[in-house]
Amino acid sequence: MTEDLINRRTFVGTGAAAMLFGAVASASSAAAADDKTRRIRVAIIGCGSVSNVYLPQLSRCPHVELVSACDIIPQRAKEQSERYKIPNQYTHIDQLLAGVPFDLMVNLTDMQEHERLNLQAVNAGKNVWSEKPMANSLEAGEKLLTAAKMKGVKVWGAPAMVMSPQFAFIAKTVQSGALGRVAAAHADYGHTGPEWSVFFYEKGGGSLPDLAVYNLTTLTGVLGPAKSVVAMTSIVTPTRTIGGKKEIKVIAEDNAMVLLDHGNGVISHIQSGFNYFNPHGHDGGKEQRHTVNIVGTKGYIGLVGYDWDPQGVDLSTEDEPAFKRHATDQANFEWAMGASLAAESLATGKDLLITPEHALHVLEIIQAARESQDSGHRVQLRSKFQWPVIS
Ligand SMILES: NC(=O)c1ccc[n+]([C@@H]2O[C@H](COP(=O)([O-])OP(=O)(O)OC[C@H]3O[C@@H](n4cnc5c(N)ncnc54)[C@H](O)[C@@H]3O)[C@@H](O)[C@H]2O)c1
Repeated sequence: MTEDLINRRTFVGTGAAAMLFGAVASASSAAAADDKTRRIRVAIIGCGSVSNVYLPQLSRCPHVELVSACDIIPQRAKEQSERYKIPNQYTHIDQLLAGVPFDLMVNLTDMQEHERLNLQAVNAGKNVWSEKPMANSLEAGEKLLTAAKMKGVKVWGAPAMVMSPQFAFIAKTVQSGALGRVAAAHADYGHTGPEWSVFFYEKGGGSLPDLAVYNLTTLTGVLGPAKSVVAMTSIVTPTRTIGGKKEIKVIAEDNAMVLLDHGNGVISHIQSGFNYFNPHGHDGGKEQRHTVNIVGTKGYIGLVGYDWDPQGVDLSTEDEPAFKRHATDQANFEWAMGASLAAESLATGKDLLITPEHALHVLEIIQAARESQDSGHRVQLRSKFQWPVIS
């Protein structure tokens, strides 16, 4: 997906396009925001690859005022600030938190850094939207939520797919009983792996938190919290070249198969990996396969394309066996819109279907999958989230 779409090689080109787009977007967002629109002051931390997708979104959002950008690489904070007209730049979270006041921190740093940066921001009284994962373990994530409650702030974690019209259609169809007695589900997502940053392959990285996280969120969102996990993971490519020159050893899994027991006999299977050839290239945007499918005694439902870039939903039932395509609206969902939705929620009080408890449940599944690989055993889960995920 976008890890590859917006990779280091395309960063400069994308940045230039984004600069033009950002200028247009901020002009139109200023026009769109009337005096009554409450703006949330947003600080972004981590100005790397994914910031090129988040910042255009945030610039367009009428509820957002971009006030600060922070990156330990000063040049990155400077460049993104220039592109998106962000007035303040910092190179350390301490400076960011002590600097110009803001309401929402958008954390786009390395996966392993999220936990400590999110906690530090929450303890400083900031709301947080975090890229996945919100923390490195369920226990640390629970502490983060407790701290947020004590401080009276909100924390949300990517991904945002439960907000897509395709997810909504699948969730409602399954809940309606149209598939009969639900039995099984499968989802998969992979590509040949990010090639611009080492953290994807270090401890705490891997294809589970980077890629499987999407399918895990979708299938637990539709079928309910999982009760137990069995998994196998492996490393297919033991060394990689990062940034075109640096040879690294791969520590985290780059290949994973996860089985989930959702209760009532429902079993799902999720596979992800950094060694998947994709005929549509890295981004997979033209994917037409059912990458997520669910089957029951009276029906089958398949998501067309990836759940982070959904193109429609095909449904076949006992009453209407010929596939019919539904939910083809692609205009109202973008996978990187979560931080903008968080700002809107803070500004308007509107609740989101995205919940931190759901993100932590998925994090527990990832932890349990690794434990299952290490021990060879089935691992019981304890976390839950509000379900069904239907507005
Ligand atoms: N790249 C994508 O298309 C994409 C898509 C979806 C999700 N994500 C997620 O977004 C996050 C970032 O990924 P990326 O691809 O942008 O990585 P990246 O390496 O391109 O960018 C990360 C940035 O964070 C900065 N950083 C690291 N530690 C920091 C700290 N302590 N304080 C301030 N800045 C710090 C780095 O200097 C770097 O500029 C990851 O969680 C990743 O899984 C990325």
